[in-house]
Amino acid sequence: MQRGNPKASAGAPKPAHEPRALPRMKIVAIANQKGGVGKTTTAVNLGAALAESGKRILLVDLDPQANATSSFGLQGVEDVSLYDPLLGDASITEKILPTRREGLFIVPADLDMAGAEVEIARMPNHLTRLAETLKPLHTDQTFDFVFLDCPPSLGILMSNALAAADELLTPIQCEYFALEGLVKIVRLIQQVLDSGANERLELAGIVMTMFDARTNLSQQVVADVRKHFGERVYETVIPRSVRLSEAPSFGKSILEYASSGPAAQAYRALAREFMKRHVSPATVRELSHTPASENRET
Ligand SMILES: Nc1ncnc2c1ncn2[C@@H]1O[C@H](COP(=O)(O)OP(=O)(O)OP(=O)(O)O)[C@@H](O)[C@H]1O
Ligand SMILES: [Mg+2]
Repeated sequence: MQRGNPKASAGAPKPAHEPRALPRMKIVAIANQKGGVGKTTTAVNLGAALAESGKRILLVDLDPQANATSSFGLQGVEDVSLYDPLLGDASITEKILPTRREGLFIVPADLDMAGAEVEIARMPNHLTRLAETLKPLHTDQTFDFVFLDCPPSLGILMSNALAAADELLTPIQCEYFALEGLVKIVRLIQQVLDSGANERLELAGIVMTMFDARTNLSQQVVADVRKHFGERVYETVIPRSVRLSEAPSFGKSILEYASSGPAAQAYRALAREFMKRHVSPATVRELSHTPASENRET
């Protein structure tokens, strides 16, 4: 018998806007040993677009340059960085800051991270320090995805990211030598697999960035990369956009800075494609409809 107890509605379907829990948190390393290809821009803006669609995202800034951190205007926050957790002196859960985008959180980096690299190198478990550091997040299940914004070197921080990640998302700039860079990454993944540090690592996605539709070069590079890497290459291509390079200096993602422009639309499209690759068929159907938030000016 129905007694009017509000708890009696617990079994009712959840409202459509309520975020769905994914089966488990995924750790995605956004990595390419080449500098300036759009790793940080993709980590920040794909993260923001996924958060806009209701996912809970943690961005971990692994780069002593701290570009992802300053993209949110969070540089210089005292004592809040990955440094202490990496050295085993604090839990990562104490170092998580909110960003102005609901659902998107960050563990900042600072210049000390360069020192952490040296100190970690002396530790016996130096390749798995980050994997250990991230463990409490698996227990909490607060986040759907953790993005690791990697530095552009093949140093110990990037090796730690590859050892901790479930998969790799690699941004590639539409320019000459794109394929050569990719060959190096594939070799690196093979080394990680061979070392036994991480048996599940795969190159799950390649995102072409800074695409200039006016040049034959951009078209040619995308065609070449698709020919060799097939479906791993996202259909969505990120256009070259001055707005994308301006947004960080305002502490904003592109979704706040130029919400309805082509770059914001591209990162939203990338987020939809990303989710199609990561969730169940039922949710794919849901996501194939353009979210209402797409037209929202923020
Ligand atoms: N699609 C784009 N259009 C125009 N500029 C872009 C685009 N993507 C990134 N940029 C700019 O290019 C520069 C390099 O981008 P970003 O910092 O994302 O690369 P990165 O791979 O993280 O670099 P690093 O290797 O130094 O960490 C930045 O100034 C950024 O604002
Ligand atoms: Mg970067």
